[in-house]
Amino acid sequence: MRVVSGMRPTGKLHLGHYIGVLKNWKELQNRYESFFFVADWHALTTKFDEEIDLKAQSIELVKEWIACGIDPRKATLFIQSEIKEHAELYLIFNMITPVSWLERNPTYKDAMAQEEYKKKNNAGFLTYPVLQTADIVIYDADLVPIGEDQKPHLELARDIVNRFHYLYKKEIFKEPKEMLTEMARLPGLDGRKMSKSFNNAIYLDETPEEIWNKVRMAKTDPARIKKTDPGHPEVCIVFEYHKAFSTPEEVAEIENACRKGSIGCVECKKRCAANIEKVVGPIREKKAKLKNEDILDIIKKGNKKAKDLAAEKMKKVNEVIF
Ligand code: TRP
Ligand code: SF4
Repeated sequence: MRVVSGMRPTGKLHLGHYIGVLKNWKELQNRYESFFFVADWHALTTKFDEEIDLKAQSIELVKEWIACGIDPRKATLFIQSEIKEHAELYLIFNMITPVSWLERNPTYKDAMAQEEYKKKNNAGFLTYPVLQTADIVIYDADLVPIGEDQKPHLELARDIVNRFHYLYKKEIFKEPKEMLTEMARLPGLDGRKMSKSFNNAIYLDETPEEIWNKVRMAKTDPARIKKTDPGHPEVCIVFEYHKAFSTPEEVAEIENACRKGSIGCVECKKRCAANIEKVVGPIREKKAKLKNEDILDIIKKGNKKAKDLAAEKMKKVNEVIF
């Protein structure tokens, strides 16, 4: 079974990426033939007008993946824009995809409800699920690990595949299935979605001091004023972090102590920060040791492998159409 997934290079990775995506990829690479790629063309669908160094950010992203435990000997790591066949297949799929299918995509509808996107309303944003379809089916992916919000894109991918098969009377693609990890979603320090724009994220390259300073500021149960006030872990962000980073025994102990009012929030936060550091520390150290030239080498090999498969598939596509 083959797994394909992509991530946009839109800046430093944070704990939410680690808990929500990379921990899962780490498991998948042991169980499936895995292809993980930097979706740099996808980044352009919304950020075409921003001054970002996509090349540098892509290399940095692959470096962070590897620091997190993605193993280039197990998984194929590559850069989307280096495999021009994705664009070729995107073009073909754009020919056969009704605009109405794209206009009813919830991601598109949500964006159009925001003034900022409505002003841009670029064709690439409307058609980005078509590019995503090409990314996936060009490699005959069986499974695509994605978040809940991406589910409609996988449905669309299957619809496009079926339409292609119907129109050209030849079944050359696999129908991909989404793989929804009961995604451990880690909230930001203020309880909203963890995001750079909310300034509520802890990044994978932060020092123990920086981690502590952020955890220190995290929202806790507002009902606790004195240390002996009984607490409600279910409304506390710090407790969410404990669930993600502490052992089950420690989580149970903290829950109990919080409810009884026998642990203070400061102590609880200190333990939380220390457990985050146990995960982040090795990632930070591994990242510091990785050299750009080695990353470039890994990408070059990954690109080659991806390119061979993609070219083979495009040959079939073109034989069917022309
Ligand atoms: N659209 C995905 C996102 O925004 C990224 C992505 C691009 C992707 N192509 C993909 C994910 C193919 C899975 C498979 O996060
Ligand atoms: Fe949250 Fe811990 Fe304070 Fe309980 S003791 S409210 S879990 S920080």
